[in-house]
Amino acid sequence: MHFPLFYALKNPFLGCFFAYMEFFLYLCNRINHNAYHMKRILLLLVFFFASILVYGAKMSVSSPDRLTEVFVRLSDQGQPQYQVLQDGQRMIDWSALGICAAEMDLRDGFSLLSSDEKTADETWQTVWGEERLIRDQHNELTLHLTHRSGMKMDLVFRVFDDGWAFRYVLPDSNIRLTITDEYTEYRFASDPQAWSIPWRTEYYEGIWTKAPMSAKTDTLCSPITLELPDGRYAFLHEAALTDYPAQNVYMQDGALKTYLTPWLANGQTTCVKAYVTLPFATPWRFVILTRNLPAMVASRIMLNLNEPCAIDGTSWIKPMKFLGIWWGMHIKTMTWEQGPKHGATTKNMERYMRFTKDHHIQAVLAEGWNKGWEDWKHFSFTEPYDDWDMPYLSGLAKELGVQIIGHNETGGNAADYEEQLEEAYAYHQHHGIHAIKTGYVAPIIRTKDGLQWNKGQSGVRHYRHVIETAAKYRICIDNHEPVMPTGLQRTYPNLMTQEGVRGQEWNAWSQDGGSPCSHVTTLPFTRIMAGPVDYTPGVFAFENPGNALNPTGTRGSAEKGKAPRVHSTLMNQLGLFVCFYSPLQMACDLPENYMKHPDAFKFIEDVPCDWERSILVDGRIGEYCIFTRQQRGEADWFIGGINNEEPRTVEIPLTMLESGKKYKATIYRDGKKAHWETKPYDYVIETRTVHAGKTLKLRMASGGGFAIKLSAI
Ligand code: NOJ
Repeated sequence: MHFPLFYALKNPFLGCFFAYMEFFLYLCNRINHNAYHMKRILLLLVFFFASILVYGAKMSVSSPDRLTEVFVRLSDQGQPQYQVLQDGQRMIDWSALGICAAEMDLRDGFSLLSSDEKTADETWQTVWGEERLIRDQHNELTLHLTHRSGMKMDLVFRVFDDGWAFRYVLPDSNIRLTITDEYTEYRFASDPQAWSIPWRTEYYEGIWTKAPMSAKTDTLCSPITLELPDGRYAFLHEAALTDYPAQNVYMQDGALKTYLTPWLANGQTTCVKAYVTLPFATPWRFVILTRNLPAMVASRIMLNLNEPCAIDGTSWIKPMKFLGIWWGMHIKTMTWEQGPKHGATTKNMERYMRFTKDHHIQAVLAEGWNKGWEDWKHFSFTEPYDDWDMPYLSGLAKELGVQIIGHNETGGNAADYEEQLEEAYAYHQHHGIHAIKTGYVAPIIRTKDGLQWNKGQSGVRHYRHVIETAAKYRICIDNHEPVMPTGLQRTYPNLMTQEGVRGQEWNAWSQDGGSPCSHVTTLPFTRIMAGPVDYTPGVFAFENPGNALNPTGTRGSAEKGKAPRVHSTLMNQLGLFVCFYSPLQMACDLPENYMKHPDAFKFIEDVPCDWERSILVDGRIGEYCIFTRQQRGEADWFIGGINNEEPRTVEIPLTMLESGKKYKATIYRDGKKAHWETKPYDYVIETRTVHAGKTLKLRMASGGGFAIKLSAI
């Protein structure tokens, strides 16, 4: 092979160098005009201009404010690598990129063909959300690479003021690849503190633990949240997970590396991660990187990386608060299956529906209305138990102006659910049901590809199929036991909320005694950064007599499991309605418990679940969290505070209020003696007149919190 050509293919810079050198030498020697030399000169001229093109290819891209910069290079072996700087400081050292398929290893052997740049600055409106308007402002760089096999690969980078993202695009067509690995690395230049859960945490229902990243020995679920030594915060996750396995990460040789969730065969792990047909693009990998915590929480990178809304006409998608025949099953005063304590009976549902209407709440969930709960082997989604009169209840719902939220627990049998899907959704639609809570209780689900991880490619396909089918029937989904959210709700806003969290129900039955107070003060910065959460706040009675007797046959005790309970004050439960974002927000306790504290329940009646703007006022991961949010389309603001075990006094400047206006503040706060364990029901409700220049000073008890409604006077 010609000398410069050989180098140009291997490395554009060396190629350029040798081409120039040869050209220069020939000119210097004043070559005579015989044909051989003419040809050679022509060839060299071609290389000269080609190398200028390649040399001119841009290998870096910066954020619109120019303070975050991503640099890309090819190593001597032709391996793509990237590095990230913010404020001139190195945040990510050179980190590898690449994919491995069974058919070929796309880790190295690349050369650069060309690059493209784009900028974007647009503002789009959400159907529902923490914000009505979202600005997507970024710069994009695409490197067009060619592999030694002839395969093409594009690396697309987007840099925002608050972070960066990239994805792999394989633009060839009609080629099938079996992806066996992804070599994506994140080599942080420092050793941040990391909050994470292990990748095999069932349904993501774990307590997030904090440790230096270098000390994390497990493979971890995506996302992870990081606090850098210089006070910056980072959030590492993926966006637009579609027809690909979920990303996990693990520490090795000083870098976080990607581990894609594998396919299983007969329940055993295989080396296959994904089957793809080209052209194909992976989900986006992104890192939010900000100088403080409020900026991390305010980042909308994940939503911006998802495709715009794919549903024509979204007026049927409505944020709602709901009550439900639910908590009773978890505290064992009711059952899902038929019997003397059956929860979802016509009579009980009617009671719930009337209560819901009287308290200005929009909907009621009913679990255990359908056949299949005796043995969980086969659930029917169209056949009610005979003590559930669907036509009557659906008529009553219409009459009262209250929605019924359906429940489709699959017991992890996604294949069975898919077979019933169209019929089930037509049935619900026929009865005026526009929202369904789905469930997949089984550590490994059964898809049409056999037993699979729910976050493997087959599970991801199933969930997507459910959302798309539900959209056809104008049904919104509250997905329990989901794959970790990645912002798909921008494209399918009928995917309204998801579990994927150690939720309130653990406080009803967990043998470890319930989640510590610091659990809820960690979630807004970890799981909830990935999207709306169906945590089910709003417990008003903290003792669970039904569950105090644990399976070991003893009353809860230190040796044999603790009696479970909610580790919070009543005011903390109210604060959750503002701090935990969900457009379908459940008030989970029984009506009779709410009626023990009707004055506090008033806040649940008033608080909306769709927002114009949202601001993290203050917080420390795992310690406390204070959010303020403005009701969508209204002047009213709400503030919520939640606290860990350490009592503290916090200051809340009301600068978000419109200046010159007066507001009536209705404040729900912990009483002087409040404590999650000894005095959870000690609270004070008071009103004050406030304005934008005022700073509120409030004390949060151990496990305490507060909630405030600010209405313009
Ligand atoms: C687990 C869900 O998280 C819970 O909300 C539901 O009640 C049960 N599964 C039964 O479907």
